[in-house]
This record gives sequence, C-alpha cells and structure tokens, in this order.
Amino acid sequence: MRFTFLIIAFITIVSGLDNGLGRTPPMGWNTWNHFQCQVNEQLLKDSADAMIELGFYEAGYKYLNLDDCWEGHRDENGYITTDPITFPGGIKALADYAHEKGLLFGIYSDAGRLTCARRLGSLGYEDKDAQRYAEWGIDFLKYDNCHNDGSPEIQRYVKMRDALNKTGRPIFYSICEWGKSKPFLWGRAVGNSWRTTLDIRATWASIISIIQKQQMITKYAGPGGWNDPDMLQIGNGQLTLEEQRSHFSLWAALKAPLLLGFDIRNPPVDAKAIALNEEIIAINQDPLGLSVSIVQRTRFYDIWTGPLSDGYVAVLFNRGEIPVVITLYFASHCNLEGEIAVRDLWEHADKGNFATSYFSRVPKHGVTVVKLTGGSRINKHNEPLFLQQIWDEDIVDDDPIEIDISINGDQIY
Ligand code: GLA
Repeated sequence: MRFTFLIIAFITIVSGLDNGLGRTPPMGWNTWNHFQCQVNEQLLKDSADAMIELGFYEAGYKYLNLDDCWEGHRDENGYITTDPITFPGGIKALADYAHEKGLLFGIYSDAGRLTCARRLGSLGYEDKDAQRYAEWGIDFLKYDNCHNDGSPEIQRYVKMRDALNKTGRPIFYSICEWGKSKPFLWGRAVGNSWRTTLDIRATWASIISIIQKQQMITKYAGPGGWNDPDMLQIGNGQLTLEEQRSHFSLWAALKAPLLLGFDIRNPPVDAKAIALNEEIIAINQDPLGLSVSIVQRTRFYDIWTGPLSDGYVAVLFNRGEIPVVITLYFASHCNLEGEIAVRDLWEHADKGNFATSYFSRVPKHGVTVVKLTGGSRINKHNEPLFLQQIWDEDIVDDDPIEIDISINGDQIY
C-alpha cells in the first residue's frame, strides 16, 4: 500500500513544475509579519509606492505579496471573490497598480477548506482559483496548509501545481506546509520554494531555533527551488541590531527567499539599512545558487561557509552572550589554500590578504560575514555535514538544541 502510494507520488511529481522562475531566491515584501489580517487596498498601494521610493525595488525587492485575509466568498460558479470591505477595487486592480510600477504581485491561499485565518481555502477549487489568479495577473502564490482534509501534502500541493501550470502564466509557487512532510525531498518537482519550519516569530529564540533546523537540509537549495525558513522579521519585535544582521545574513547565505516583513511605508532605520546591504544581497542572489553549510559548531558559535560563482562566503556567527573571537581556517572550513583576499561585507572593507586563516571579534548574537577570493580548492572530500536524524526529532520542537558536530571526523568539543 505504502509502496503503491510512493510510486503514484513519484509519477505525479516527476511531471514537474516548469515555470522557469526562481533562478535566484525571490526578494520582496509580504504583509503578514507586521500586519497579519489588518490589510487593505490602501496599505498595499502605499507599500508599493514605498518599495519604489525608498530604494527597495532598486536593491532587488520585486515582489509585493499580499498574505492571508483578502478572500471573500465564492460566487455562484465557484470562483473566489475578494473581501468587498477591505479590497473594494479587487485584486486585479492592485496587481495592475504593482505592475505599472515594475513590481510583481503575489497572493496567498491554502490547500485546505479554510486558510489559517479561516478565510476560504482552495481545496477542491484548485483549477478555478489558479485560473482566477492568472486572469488577475498574479506572479506569486504562497500556498498554506491549514484546515486540510488529512490527505498527503504531496497530493494537495501537486494539484495546485498542475492547476497553475494549466494557466500558462508563470507564477512562482511557494509551498507552505511548514516542513511537515519533508518538502525538501519533493518540493523541487512541485514548487519554487518550500517552508521548512513552523511560523517565525520576531524573537531571538525563534530565529535561533529555525537556523538550527536548516543545517541538515542546506544541500537541497538550488536554482529553481529553495528552502524557505520563513519570512524576515528584521524591523519587527525587539531584535537588537546585531540580531537583525545575523538573521538577515544567514537567510541570505542559506539562499532563503528575502521577504521583508516590517512596515515598509515607515521602515525602522536599522532594518532599512540592513535590508539594503547590497553586498549581503549579492550573496543571496549569486547565480551559482548554492547554500552555505555548517562546518563548525561550538558551544558559543557557528561557522557556515559555501561557494559563490566568484569566490567563497563565510558567516562567523556568535550565538553566545559575550563577544568572542572566531577564527576561520581556510583549509578546514572552506577547503581553500593559497593567498586569500578577505572582504568584510558589513564593514564594506577589504581586510587584506591572508595565508591560512582570518579572525574576527564578533559581538554577542552577531555575525562577521566575509567574502574570500583567490587561492585554490584543496583536492579532498569535504561534504557538508548532514544530520537527518535531528530533523526527525526536532521538526515540531521549537526549543533551541545543542548538538555536537565534527569536521572530517574530529570532534570539535
Ligand atoms: C500560516 C503561515 C503564515 C501566514 C499565516 C496566515 O500560519 O505559516 O506564514 O501565512 O498562516 O494566516
């Protein structure tokens, strides 16, 4: 029975999503993290204006994404309508408004009877909804998993994929089943990104917990399909400057979608500067599209490294409560040897050439992000660490975990 299901699942998913989108992770702004259900037409228009006027569009943020709470009832033919009170002009007018400014427009629905905010979902109406989205000029669909009928996620998400394909309009398909059925294993054939965790909150504990859940799945991210550790919380809650920089840097280097979630009409000064750091954005948008992997974890800090099309990136991340000096060894952490040029991507400064290592004093909860160029690859096998068992144990547990990691068989601590 299980075997038959697997065969059917395999046959249905291999036919593929073929929209050519997401060659690099999507960048944009989404309503949910700041506004939840308090959304309306004017907010979306003002946010579109702000994306252009405040430089976000120019920095690469192209998607204006309306999350839950826009939905009305279904008409007599089963087509979804728009909430007439909050969006009297309808979704098409909003999408047109965004398009006139050069933005792309995204919307939200759910592979269940109701959305998470208990508006109408798409289950059973996939074709009609996809058709409507295409008519409205939608460019991005986030597809959630609340109030479903208990059938396997793959089936329900493939159904919407096929409905989107049928419209002929390329629509970025963002799978949001919260990492429930290991979407990194099937998401690439179904969507352009897949949520890997439950909802992010604007707290340090939530961000740390999510980072720890990414370490064993980094290898699944690549052009056309991305791990999605949820939308950014910079500019929300009480996160410190260093915490926001760490959050943004790691999401960028993990090749996560960069979907801002603060009030973009009035961005907090720190969050705006962070979101507009073009050197960190360039790491995220690098055409090679490979994620960093964790290469060392100690009790206090992590080192994440990965290749770029024109070099290497390293994130020295202090999870601890006091400043710490972190040393990056080019050979053991990056598989690199020779003369290496180091550039600090938050200081925007070339730090010079180094032969074997580079160290940096990293503040509490902060990061140093460096780009390495020059040198050559050492010809030895150094696969990213892959900790499948942690995923299985940890997927529904929101508490940070401490784990031991070794490099090439040597225990770090
Ligand atoms: C779920 C999703 C969130 C958001 C809300 C909307 O919780 O994970 O990202 O879309 O639903 O109701």
